[in-house]
Amino acid sequence: AARADQLQRGILPAQPVKAVGERLTILYGSQTGQAKRIATQLSARAEAAGLAVRLMRADGYAQRDLAKETHLVVVISTQGDAEPPDDARGLVEFILGKRAPKLPGLRYAVLGLGDSSYPQFCAIGRQLDDRFAELGGTRLAPLGEADVDIDAVATPWTERALEQARQALGATQPAARVATLQPVPSRATHHRERPFAAPVLDNQTIVARDAGRDIRHIELSLEGSGLRYEPGDAVGVWPENPPALVDQWLSLLKLDGEHAVHHEGRELPLRRWLTHERELTRLSRPLIAAVADVSGDQELASLLRPDQSSRLAALFADLQPIDLWRRHPTAWSADELVAALRPQTPRLYSIASSQKAVGDEVHLTVAVIDYQAHGEPHWGAASSFLGASSDERGVPVFIEENERFRLPRDDSRDVIMIGPGTGVAPFRAFVQERRETAARGRHWLFFGNRYFSSEFLYQIEWQAALRDGSLDRLDLAFSRDGDAKVYVQQRIREQGRDLYTWLQEGAHLYVCGDANHMAKDVHAALIDVAVAHGGQSQEQAKEWLSDLLQQGRYARDVY
Ligand code: 2AM
Repeated sequence: AARADQLQRGILPAQPVKAVGERLTILYGSQTGQAKRIATQLSARAEAAGLAVRLMRADGYAQRDLAKETHLVVVISTQGDAEPPDDARGLVEFILGKRAPKLPGLRYAVLGLGDSSYPQFCAIGRQLDDRFAELGGTRLAPLGEADVDIDAVATPWTERALEQARQALGATQPAARVATLQPVPSRATHHRERPFAAPVLDNQTIVARDAGRDIRHIELSLEGSGLRYEPGDAVGVWPENPPALVDQWLSLLKLDGEHAVHHEGRELPLRRWLTHERELTRLSRPLIAAVADVSGDQELASLLRPDQSSRLAALFADLQPIDLWRRHPTAWSADELVAALRPQTPRLYSIASSQKAVGDEVHLTVAVIDYQAHGEPHWGAASSFLGASSDERGVPVFIEENERFRLPRDDSRDVIMIGPGTGVAPFRAFVQERRETAARGRHWLFFGNRYFSSEFLYQIEWQAALRDGSLDRLDLAFSRDGDAKVYVQQRIREQGRDLYTWLQEGAHLYVCGDANHMAKDVHAALIDVAVAHGGQSQEQAKEWLSDLLQQGRYARDVY
């Protein structure tokens, strides 16, 4: 389609020009589709410039081809704090590992995508860029590191990489002029840049009052939006920052909310910038750099050094941007403040409903983040916005597809779901979907939370599902009911024999929830299960799980 479109716009010559020299290989590893989008656009432009191009998703790439590559571009995201996307896990392990070949004939360029509110920003891109050099490759372009406002870096970077590749490969056509890399136009009328204002149909607490935290079930209406979703997809929510937090900023910096601020071609009152347009609840590396710069604090600046990543991680976990200002009070003008803060980004929530069951609605399970720290109230942007939402004003939303977190196409396959806490959300969607479609396979859910009596999310629904046969097994781990902590991975080990049998029989396995601790511990438990019940060695068990990930039979939606 991209090619047809370019032909039409006259960018692409009608007769493809034969490339002089070798081929450009473009590989991407993508979790949310952004790396794929950029790689696809780069590929179309390189072809238009007359290069012979091969575009591949990392898990479709034959590792033995690497030693033969002469010109390679890699576009790859980093998940959480230094994890590769699942579709690139195998290739990344291979390149970083001992079996990687020497690459003296390779000219390469790496574009990393990441989120600078994680301390190890773009770690996977950086590791690959270093590793290719170590293996003897030469850079076509320096490492690109794109933050959440991806195109600000990706557009000039791809421009440059393309020009270098063109020169290196001796293409005869000048690179086609395309001003910016626009997102691939979506067929949906509403998308990330044009969200739908979804009316709130229901917003209720689903934990007991004594739970000590608030988890909500929220139902939004998509009626008239044209938006569709599949189980496994997420809703993107554009939050409004809490009014009390915006007021804190204004009073702390003694600034007037009505003051007009001009930034990147737009003029808005400061209060509007802070409420809608800027990230106020998560630290980022550029913000720390800006505060260190203005305050002249060397100690703070030193945290950005590569060898300080664990101290930086501790800072990220402990402070929000406003705490940083409180610790390093400096005078900022309204313009400087808007420039220093990162643009707001939408937050993704795994969808907790199946459209086959709920029609025009979409359901979310949201833990409201609202706590005291350093003597001041703190909030999570999207969760407190959703928690306070009512039917008066719509919530700006769009659908984020997640092709790698899908029910098996073959409905006779069994499904194993591991989702503690709000990680249970997509499994409510899965069970609804499989009930509606009268799927033949079996269903097994592992759920955990802190207390049975107050935090057994959707308890009545699971019990009904067990009765009507849409759920076959339910294993529970309530961590704070007894003296010792019990987590889902303990139940996985206890049920290891059956779980291994299900997997041998072709079951698909899904994990949703916390990436930093839970998903890693569950992964380790699965290795133990294969060792204990499959007679595998540690190494074999690791390979076996990597294969399941590659095949898409073990899928993760973790954050
Ligand atoms: P905890 O808070 O009592 O430690 C959902 O948040 C549930 O996940 C809670 O019961 C929480 O327990 C638990 N949890 C915390 N760390 C975990 C880990 N590493 N693996 C699995 N579950 C974990």
